[in-house]
Amino acid sequence: MRDILPPESGRWRRFTSVFAEVVEAAGYQQVISPLLEDLGVFVRIGDATDVVTKEMYDFVDKGERHVALRPEMTASVCRAYAQHRPTPPWKVFYSGPNFRYEKPQRGRYRQFDQVGIEVLGVDDPHLDVEVIALAWEFYRRLGLRRVVLVVNSLGEPDDRARYVEALRRHFEAAGDGLGAQSRETLQKNPLRVLDSKRPADQDVIAGAPAIADFYSDEAAEHFATVRAGLDRLGIEYVVEPKLVRGLDYYRRTIFEIQGGTLDSAQNALGGGGRYDGLVEALGGPSTPGIGFALGVDRTLLACDDEGVFAAVAPPLDAFLVDITGGQEAAAITAELRAAGLRSDRAFDNRSMKAQMKLANRSGAAHAVIVGDAELASGTVLVKPLRTDGEQVGIARDDLIRHLLGSTSND
Ligand code: HAM
Repeated sequence: MRDILPPESGRWRRFTSVFAEVVEAAGYQQVISPLLEDLGVFVRIGDATDVVTKEMYDFVDKGERHVALRPEMTASVCRAYAQHRPTPPWKVFYSGPNFRYEKPQRGRYRQFDQVGIEVLGVDDPHLDVEVIALAWEFYRRLGLRRVVLVVNSLGEPDDRARYVEALRRHFEAAGDGLGAQSRETLQKNPLRVLDSKRPADQDVIAGAPAIADFYSDEAAEHFATVRAGLDRLGIEYVVEPKLVRGLDYYRRTIFEIQGGTLDSAQNALGGGGRYDGLVEALGGPSTPGIGFALGVDRTLLACDDEGVFAAVAPPLDAFLVDITGGQEAAAITAELRAAGLRSDRAFDNRSMKAQMKLANRSGAAHAVIVGDAELASGTVLVKPLRTDGEQVGIARDDLIRHLLGSTSND
């Protein structure tokens, strides 16, 4: 778990607000769900997934309830839908921390943030296109270029079940051709074996049956419409028949956005897909669902690697240097802030020299200086700090106009 300090923390906030702008423009509204849920909510993600079997932060609370810190937000959103029954289609977005007990490394943390969207109550493949396009648009807005959109379909639940059986037979027949770890995964979830990055497994994986051969007509048509929709929007993608994703609730369309700069185990910056059936499993009516979540930590690492969406401290317009005791600095900063001008000041009645040093270090555009002579004559000295301009003395009543003028000239 990490501390996110300034100015990095400011970048996190900007990240979330750019995301909100992108999805609010498409009619999504924010849902805020609790960090903690009944453990049963998350078990529905799939009891054969690492997220549920190994990585859950769960405990018994003082009321003897078995609860868990959320490892993701899709299950919480579906639980909320089942509980409150809003009118579909329900288009929501979210942002916040999640918890998974994983082995920490670059791009993998025990507390990490996600932003994401979910839509409940719409079966239409054109919605899949909208959802994928919004994730893509957001990455474009961040300025990321070395990202790849990977899509696949897992078919209808029956197709998926027949495929899983075929995979099981294929992998079992391979015997020792699969490493011990993958043989263990096979017992729980044959699909996840496709995810193995271990070199020893690759030959057997390459020869595995392809999901496309198991699609029903309906599933094939749904996926074809999604691909045609992405083509129509000019969004480039790669169809990856072995993409399976790490959570068990997916049906039909799934997708990932992969970065080009992180280790392959951490290269998924975000992902999502359809999860028709999850609301039902949480006690609600039969409801189709689709969404995605993007990892904030990982996406910002990708931004660093590509040199885009940099962390910047919000620049100050003015820094007050008051050598008359400090009351003037209090009054002037209050006036400037009320006028929308960012201003800071020195404290502790330091010397002129010490205050000027702070002013320079603050990165402010101007130092506003008040000495005894200025106080007596109702004036201030304004010294540009970022340009070579001259220091000028102006009437105190003109300060805001003066600073606003130089802000718009900058
Ligand atoms: P996920 O693939 O488990 O999907 O996580 C989505 C993203 O969260 C990942 O691509 C990654 O960027 C980030 N992430 C996951 N675990 C960690 C970690 N330990 N450290 C840092 N980042 C991490 C879901 O969570 C689904 N709920 C997505 C979804 C929404 N599907 C449908 N709707």
